[in-house]
Amino acid sequence: MDKSKIPVEQRPALALLMDDHRAVKKLFKEFEAAKKDSDKQAIAAETCQQLSVHAQIEEEIFYPALRGASDKVDDMLDEAEVEHDVAKSLIQKIQQGDSEMLDANYKVLTEYVGHHVEEEEGELFPAVIKAKIDLREIATRLEARKMELLGEPA
Ligand SMILES: [Fe+2]
Ligand SMILES: [Fe+2]
Repeated sequence: MDKSKIPVEQRPALALLMDDHRAVKKLFKEFEAAKKDSDKQAIAAETCQQLSVHAQIEEEIFYPALRGASDKVDDMLDEAEVEHDVAKSLIQKIQQGDSEMLDANYKVLTEYVGHHVEEEEGELFPAVIKAKIDLREIATRLEARKMELLGEPA
């Protein structure tokens, strides 16, 4: 999705979430290229933190703002929430630190999150734009909550 084509009411919020998606995809590539176990563990820890914060701001602020926009949007949100739960259980497994299983768990997380991101950017975001939901205030709240969860001053 081309950020410059997103209407101004939705652009900051969707751009923030898309930037998160890009950052995580970059970590997925770094993990794939990493050779040392210590590097893999560090990248995995960073991935888990970023994904947890991203999922939390979507669940607390973004998804509730879209609820009720249409039956189609509600169905997509239901599915997204189930996908978040599955991703969180994988994150938990990775964080519990079974190093034997790190490659396997991380690979499944990569595929799973890749699919979820494709659905968000390919289906949910276009539906949000079509429904003309004003997300300008939501963008400010997403940003502030993200900073708070990451432990940085907003
Ligand atoms: Fe999501
Ligand atoms: Fe997302």
